[in-house]
Amino acid sequence: MKSLVVALGGAAVGAAVCLGPQGRRPPGGVKVARVATLEELPADGVPRSFPVYATGLEVWNKLFGKPVGAVFLRRMGVDSLVAFNAACPHAGCRVDFEPDRKGYLCPCHKSSFTIEGKLADPSSQALRGLDELKVELRDGREIWVHFQDFHPGHAEKYPI
Ligand code: FES
Repeated sequence: MKSLVVALGGAAVGAAVCLGPQGRRPPGGVKVARVATLEELPADGVPRSFPVYATGLEVWNKLFGKPVGAVFLRRMGVDSLVAFNAACPHAGCRVDFEPDRKGYLCPCHKSSFTIEGKLADPSSQALRGLDELKVELRDGREIWVHFQDFHPGHAEKYPI
């Protein structure tokens, strides 16, 4: 009986270490997710926003199928793709794309970014441009993004 209690206690400690204090895995890391198809993204170079849904291992922390962030995708030509995390690098608000300005604007403290994701105004609160993400085309039409969040408020990108 004593060995059973010891074994169960060890398993509970192991689960707590793996899942964290609230029974969840710590957030962060790279999430490789399918976010769109080529048909959903015209080749005119105008950024479009897409949600990123939790996949795979996120089932363990009950995030499966829920949005964990958003990206802006640009498609130039047949299959040239660019992806940005939609979170503002100043403090994490979600930026908007403004077609008239041909750039991104953060509604929180008005940081602005060029359509290429670079800082448009040197006096912006943000210290770096939008965070570019790795993007790949699978099966000739599915757009997959290596989604990741980065610590806001720094000039350099520090992954969360
Ligand atoms: S959160 Fe975007 S400018 Fe502050």
